[in-house]
Amino acid sequence: MKFDTPATSNPIDQMKVIGKATTRIEGPLKTTGQAPYAYEHHTAVPNQAYGVVVGSAIAKGRIASMDLEVAQAAPGVLAIVTAANAGKLGKGKYNTAKLLGGPEIEHYHQAVALVVAQTFEQARAAAELVKVDYVRAKGVFDLAATRDSAKQTKEMPDTVHGDFEGAFAAAPVQLDATYTTPDQAHAMMEPFASMAAWDGDKLTVWTSNQMIDWSVTDLATTLGIPKKNVRLISPYIGGGFGGKLFIRCDAVLAALGARLAGRPVKVALARPLMFNNSTHRPATIQRIRIGATADGKITAMAHEGWSGDLPGGKVERASQPSQLLYAGENRRVSMRLSTLNLPEGNAMRAPGEAPGMMALEIAMDEMAEKLKIDPVEFRIFNDTQVDPVNTQRSFSQRRLIECLRTGTERFGWSSRQAQPGAQREGRWLIGQGMAVAFRNNLLVKSGARVRLNDQGIVTVETDMTDIGTGSYTIIAQTAAEMMGVTLDKVLVRLGDSSFPVSAGSGGQFGGNCSTSGVYAACVKLRAAVAQRLGMKPDEATFADGEVSTGDRRVPLQEAARGGELVAEDSIEFAELSKIFQQSTFGAHFVEVAVDSATGETRVRRMLAVCAAGRILNPTSARSQVIGAMTMGVGAALMEELAVDKRLGFFVNHDLAGYEVPVHADIPHQEVIFLEEDDPVSSPMKAKGVGELGICGVSAAIANAVYNATGIRVRDYPITLDKMLDKLPPMI
Ligand code: MOS
Repeated sequence: MKFDTPATSNPIDQMKVIGKATTRIEGPLKTTGQAPYAYEHHTAVPNQAYGVVVGSAIAKGRIASMDLEVAQAAPGVLAIVTAANAGKLGKGKYNTAKLLGGPEIEHYHQAVALVVAQTFEQARAAAELVKVDYVRAKGVFDLAATRDSAKQTKEMPDTVHGDFEGAFAAAPVQLDATYTTPDQAHAMMEPFASMAAWDGDKLTVWTSNQMIDWSVTDLATTLGIPKKNVRLISPYIGGGFGGKLFIRCDAVLAALGARLAGRPVKVALARPLMFNNSTHRPATIQRIRIGATADGKITAMAHEGWSGDLPGGKVERASQPSQLLYAGENRRVSMRLSTLNLPEGNAMRAPGEAPGMMALEIAMDEMAEKLKIDPVEFRIFNDTQVDPVNTQRSFSQRRLIECLRTGTERFGWSSRQAQPGAQREGRWLIGQGMAVAFRNNLLVKSGARVRLNDQGIVTVETDMTDIGTGSYTIIAQTAAEMMGVTLDKVLVRLGDSSFPVSAGSGGQFGGNCSTSGVYAACVKLRAAVAQRLGMKPDEATFADGEVSTGDRRVPLQEAARGGELVAEDSIEFAELSKIFQQSTFGAHFVEVAVDSATGETRVRRMLAVCAAGRILNPTSARSQVIGAMTMGVGAALMEELAVDKRLGFFVNHDLAGYEVPVHADIPHQEVIFLEEDDPVSSPMKAKGVGELGICGVSAAIANAVYNATGIRVRDYPITLDKMLDKLPPMI
């Protein structure tokens, strides 16, 4: 199905099942431990062996020699995979560094060997016995030091509009400030894990992966085998946040290990390997200049950023939101990329926008203060309903102002003191801050197959994944709504490359796009049902487990009496995504308390108001937003991969050193969704919501900390050492 005109009314609009708060249909399987995660397919194939990965001890250079003799002779060892015996490996489209290093080493903890043994303990013990001698080469590890030599990239050309320099120089009120965001880790609960089994030249890999089709392609390319010989199975995923968009070394090495050992092999990365072996969100430096008239109209806006990656890597598009978020005639938006020899930078929840909004929304707060305008009013005053550069292009929907107005009222913004440091409760300094949330709505082709059997059971099959987001549930809701049945009549099967190719879980597009693919397949199934029953497809109504036209009512399963009905289709997004700018919007409001003696920040309350099209399931959508807000608290106050600039690795590479929020750090969080649907986005009239919630929230916290203390921290995370010497005297 081509989606090329705005959706008119359709069966989803009934909202009998869609839009209803629904708990996860696979929840009981997870809470009772029956849902198998990647490392837990214990009975899928017999004779499973265990592989343990050895990571490089240097960041850049080469392996001079490897001594495997002792390891090979250790108890239970079946095989040791290294670059020397792996055969020629290709490189997948989505990987920057090789997933098996050697003799060249591209980054710290790059895999250099897989030790396969009868038991996990034997494999781990033998991995310690692998001896590697390295020749270290000089690497570049410091983003700030390389800033001046960073390069423009093809994927993000500069946006230049009007005369920024002239307009900025002429502006009566100006801001010129630089912000930094650190390298961050996905730190998902489930590590990378895969089990591989060969049957002749056919490979099956049980893994934990967000994008099944990308990963089948990349795994086949890496191993140099036909794509049709690779099957990926990933039904349950313990978090990904972008880290599992691509295959990683666990999948490749499990396949190589299984080939060498002649039996199935499972591989999980130990937590200390996760941080340097895999990908991370790259650090950024962002310079923002804003010029405005005395009454607060933005006339000049420049957002210039810098990030780094391995040779051949990509830039973190942090300045991108400044292309679209606020009005202003004269603008410059750019990103520059440095070559660094740190581990691979790549996508993490709202890549680009998340770190970009961390900077831009502090800058907007600083500018509002200079202008002596309320920060909410400043944003409303500079709202735009069209792309500020390409003014012919309007937003499909943009209800940012309503988000802001709803938020100010609900939060009680009017009782905030504009003067920083004006609210105290004993030793605690109290402050409120706000920021805008903004994330584009991406559209990706998505397919599905639906079946109807003579029991009236509707089965959906698609290679869509559920990374903890609720895909199973919204897909079941979609099929139930379309076929006029209750949720318990729908079975959903996901995460298997033998199913039709879906959009996958990425870029907050998964929910809207995968359900639209299911919608398309159900339109076909409805037609097949009507035809079987001798009804006209456009006249048939599907409701309460029955199909009806005029006075005739037939139980749905009647249509499958003569054999199961199967329909398959995909949704393809065409012109509409080019004609309209499609984005999602929100507003974050936060109250913090900062200890006037220690600088410790406690977040006291958080509110997000989101406008993200039709909300398919308020329960799982709210979970997405509060999860994203929680991640924003981590980004604001705790998260930072500490770079060893001499040796080139992330020092705090475990969950003891890489701090993320725990329950005690998170107060009551409230989420409000504006009631809307966006017929330009898809037949579901929904949009993405999973990444919107992280965008801007860290800046709202930074702005609240400023309001509490008068201390403006422009380098994340806002740890107490950055405030200690500036705190006001105790009273
Ligand atoms: Mo998202 S960072 O595209 O999983």
